[in-house]
Amino acid sequence: MAGGPTAGPDDDLTDGLAGGLAGGLADGLTADQLADASAASVGSDSSAGSALDLLTGGQNLREQFVRLMMSYKAGISEVLTKIAILSDEFALLHRSNPIEHVTHRLKTPQSMLEKLSRKGVDPSFEAIKRDLTDIAGVRITCSFIADTYRVCDALVAQDDITVLQLKDYIKQPKPNGYRSLHAIVQVPVFLSSGPAPVTVEVQIRTIAMDFWASLEHKIFYKYNGAVPPELVASLTDAAETACELDQRMERLHDEVRGPASAAGPVLGVDEAAIRTLASLIAAAKSATPPPSPESSSD
Ligand code: GTP
Ligand code: MG
Repeated sequence: MAGGPTAGPDDDLTDGLAGGLAGGLADGLTADQLADASAASVGSDSSAGSALDLLTGGQNLREQFVRLMMSYKAGISEVLTKIAILSDEFALLHRSNPIEHVTHRLKTPQSMLEKLSRKGVDPSFEAIKRDLTDIAGVRITCSFIADTYRVCDALVAQDDITVLQLKDYIKQPKPNGYRSLHAIVQVPVFLSSGPAPVTVEVQIRTIAMDFWASLEHKIFYKYNGAVPPELVASLTDAAETACELDQRMERLHDEVRGPASAAGPVLGVDEAAIRTLASLIAAAKSATPPPSPESSSD
């Protein structure tokens, strides 16, 4: 499993579209200043932070923003840890790992401002927290359709995860053919100030769905959203082909997989050590005398 820091749901349909924002966030903060604050928040350039302070005269505002971005970054880490544990569990216990790869991204301040603007919401920290549910994004790519549901179910069933929204674009694809599972979840992160719920958007899809979505995204940007109708039709057709491929691959996989018990040894597990341990446990059990009638009666 790999986690690419740059790829991920930031390449969504809306991020990066022209539009900009008249005015800024809260006390006249501009997108550039926010970008500086964001850079500082991920620890890349301390001069960016001081420049922001000079420009805004607002150490407080900067700190607030850095804290906000920190919490989203921590939210991503929490979700990635959960996925890594699930991935190990699937590999070790179920002898097959449904997770092909995982990517993640933190939405850029520029993109946050643009999205608020598109939504017609005045920029503020409250608006960011309330109206932007995809600041923290994690994308899980699986081999097969059934795997996307297995992973989604295992993730949202966890006690400390609160599901805010679940969208099944696999059962009900978008008109253009887009398919994926989208879960908007809240996960607690433990900061020095105490625990805080953080919203994370998790997208789960197959390799074929991911392939299609990346191409569609590139085409959408190339045409600045105004994709020629024949290209739209061709893309929608390609989405159907990708879906058929997913279904065929899944059928083939089911045919060759056979019963789970027929699977070979688990990679990375010392089978000999497990057999020794099992025989030691069995020997210890048979050496233990059965409980006497007196001790078991009360
Ligand atoms: P946004 O406001 O853009 O986040 O969309 P939304 O609130 O309507 O949510 P939705 O679940 O429809 O989409 C969220 C994200 O899914 C987008 O930001 C993209 O990353 C992805 N997505 C949704 N639809 C498409 C699509 O048609 N093509 C591609 N390539 N990605 C899509
Ligand atoms: Mg989005």
